[in-house]
This record gives sequence, C-alpha cells and structure tokens, in this order.
Amino acid sequence: MRKKITVVGAGRVGETTAHILAKKSLGDIVLVDIVPNLAAGKALDLMELRPIDDSDVTITGTSGFEETAGSDVVVVTSGMPRKPGESREDLLRKNIGIVKPVSEQVMKYSPNAFLVVVANPLDTMTWVAKKVTGWPKNRVVGMAGILDAARLRCFIAMELGVSVKDVQAFVLGGHGDEMVPCVRYASVGGIPIEKLMSKEKIDAIVKRTRGAGGEIVKLLGFSAYFSPAAAAVEMVQAILKDEKRVVPCSAYLEGEYGASDIYLGVPVLLGAGGVEKILEVDLTDEEKVMLANSIKLCSESIEEGKGLL
Ligand code: 2OP
Repeated sequence: MRKKITVVGAGRVGETTAHILAKKSLGDIVLVDIVPNLAAGKALDLMELRPIDDSDVTITGTSGFEETAGSDVVVVTSGMPRKPGESREDLLRKNIGIVKPVSEQVMKYSPNAFLVVVANPLDTMTWVAKKVTGWPKNRVVGMAGILDAARLRCFIAMELGVSVKDVQAFVLGGHGDEMVPCVRYASVGGIPIEKLMSKEKIDAIVKRTRGAGGEIVKLLGFSAYFSPAAAAVEMVQAILKDEKRVVPCSAYLEGEYGASDIYLGVPVLLGAGGVEKILEVDLTDEEKVMLANSIKLCSESIEEGKGLL
C-alpha cells in the first residue's frame, strides 16, 4: 500500500511540493486549500501530468480535511508569504491564525502522522504546531536548515566553480537573518573550505546566505518556493524511506545547545522515527555568541506566539 502525504496550502510552495512528491512517487498526495477549487484544480493538473512524469501516485485536491485522514506525513505550507520589506517575524500574527487551526485538523484526522512545518516564522510556527497537537518532539519538525544549507552550498559551489554534489555544509540557529552558517564545518570533496577560499570570500558567502530569502523576495515580490518545496520533500523522503539522513532541521530542544522549549535549526538524524536524534557539535566562542543571539530571537518570537495562542 502506498504512503499517504498531505500538503496543506496550494500556494506556490504547496503546489511545488506536491509536484516534486508526485514526480518522485513518494506516495498518494492530498492537496488542501481553503480557497474553493484551488487545490482541486491544481491536483487535477498534476494528475494529468503523471503520464509525462511516469508517476502512478494519485493527487487529490480538497478544501476540507476529511480526505486527508490517515496521512503518514503532513506538510504545512499554508500561511502568508513575505512581501518586500517584511521580515519572517512580521508574519507571526497572521500565520499563527492559520497554523493553529490547521494543526488541530491534522491532529483530528491523522493522529499518527509526522508533521513537517514550512510556514514562517518557521521556528515559532513549528513550536505552535507541537504545542497545539501535543505530539512528541520526534513527530513535529520544521523545514529550514536544508534550505539554508542548500543556499550556502550553492554559493560555495558557485564561488569555486565546483559541483554542488561535492559541497557539504550546514547552518545552525533560527530561520532568520541571524542564522549561523557553520563554515568551519563546510567542505568541498572533504577539504575544509577555509583551505580553498579567502576569509573575505567566506564572509561574503555567509552574509549572502543569511539574506538569501530576502534577496529572492526583493526580486520576485514574494517568497522563494522551488527550493523550500524541494527541501520539504527531502525531509518527507527521509522519513518515509527511513534514510537516516543527517541534515539540519528545526527541532525541539530540551537542553541541547543550551536552549530549552524552543524550536531551532540543528543537525538531526532524520528517519522513520522522524527526528531520531539531535547532534551537538563543538562551537567556537564566536559561534556560541552568534548562536546565543539567534536563540534569543527565537525565544522572543515563541514568547510572542504563546501570547497569541
Ligand atoms: C525563504 O527563506 C520562504 O523563508 C523562506 O525563502
């Protein structure tokens, strides 16, 4: 029997997530959006694409949650995207009003699912989803680190003129401009990037990675969607195929990295048990200061979120 994956929100991130999931045949997909006919129309279009994509999974579009019942994984993409000049935090009030009722519906119809949250402000929305569902921390996880790391890896590859396949890197901290790209751990074909690039070049790449979401908002007038969707699919695949990937995700911390009761981007082991483990890495004093700043901002955002629940 095929796995069942629900994608909540049929906007750009949701529709692209559904498309990549279908292309990879990861399971039958239910696309949900409150806008009448939007999900149904996009699902039908994706159904008709399948003969060209060589995919036999079904894609159903609906405006209610009944058809999502018994999902194995639910990806929550619903929420307002950023407009130029807006930070991810500016979306908190609007998106809590979306993520809260969505989490309630997910809990009602798919009580055993894994929940992958994509809505911004990411770490706070993932915290809200965990709070509302009351689910264990391994089953509620946020998508940000894979996206931020992909951007970092992309910029390193572009700078050095090498394949992205050979670039390994991760990003710690909240999904905001204060994230901590861990360049000390970044490598190309196993060679630390500090041996391949000047400090000035690395600093410029770190700066660009931090502002990469905003760079796209400025160009498009709305948020990125291809890479966020691809990152969410990578997480769904890791869970459904028990891949035991080591990737950065927004995970619930209980003392790790000196933080508690917050969601924060950290390296995790992602497999059939969801977040099976959080990996703690050594940090320099400078990295610790940067991470503490990111933790502070995430904690403040979550505190504000608590007040709105
Ligand atoms: C981004 O960084 C959408 O927050 C997302 O592009």
